[in-house]
Amino acid sequence: MNRKGIILAGGSGSRLFPSTKSISKQLVPIYDKPMIYYPLSTMMKAGISEVLIISTPDHISLFQNLLGDGSQFGINLYYEVQDYPGGLAQAFIIGESFIDSNPCCLILGDNIFLGAGLEELLISANNDTKNATIFSYRVSNPSRFGVIEFDENDNILGIEEKPKDPRSNYVVTGIYFYDSNVSKLAKELSPSPRGELEITDLNLKYIERGNIRLKKMSSGFTWLDTGTPESMMEASNFIYTLEKRQGRKISCPEEIALQKGLISKEEFENNLKDASGDYAEYLKTLL
Ligand code: G1P
Repeated sequence: MNRKGIILAGGSGSRLFPSTKSISKQLVPIYDKPMIYYPLSTMMKAGISEVLIISTPDHISLFQNLLGDGSQFGINLYYEVQDYPGGLAQAFIIGESFIDSNPCCLILGDNIFLGAGLEELLISANNDTKNATIFSYRVSNPSRFGVIEFDENDNILGIEEKPKDPRSNYVVTGIYFYDSNVSKLAKELSPSPRGELEITDLNLKYIERGNIRLKKMSSGFTWLDTGTPESMMEASNFIYTLEKRQGRKISCPEEIALQKGLISKEEFENNLKDASGDYAEYLKTLL
């Protein structure tokens, strides 16, 4: 079993109009790098090196231009198109042949995860190939998300998608680990009233089957989503502040590749030969 990864980078980005009129939301920079670098880094931290990027027919080539075959990061990248906004769970149908009955992790292309211990948390979810794992996070505005109800042993009792009266402040984050049945189960879903295959309905199926685990991302972790101009600016400021204070950049796939031994020092150096600017200069200091 070889866990696959999918980054879903579709959507119309309507809340960021006009910034997203001609480019994909997930290519808009968060401070010093394109948004998709963050979920890609998360995927690599989890130890996943076969990654499918799904985007719209208009934008998929932009991701290919940016990221290529992934060899510069020591991973393999593949690309598929989502023809219409058919919901997050549709990713497992579009990616069925890529997943090829392996366990699969999905990360939403606008989700940023940071924090000490994140890598260990992700690796432990990755290693559990029998169960699905979802992550909860406490937020002040739960109605915007999938809201989780759970008992004192963290057994999930239910998930409600964007409820008016949320039963808790704990919501489902945009990173999901599933077992090898995920494509089969996604194909059994019916579209919701808004016409989409909902990730929450997929999670409810796993709850029924009794093989989904909830892991809490405590307040020591940072989870940011970047769907509005305000949340994008907050995320950019956050990354800027942290990077400036610590003198280290965050979520550079090249750096993770070097740390994890996915590429050699020579390859790393070679990839930077013609690169300049603040990001490249930082990477050069790592040698
Ligand atoms: C989606 C899911 C929701 C989840 C959220 C995390 O919502 O439907 O359950 O909490 O992602 O980012 P969206 O933000 O796509 O509306």
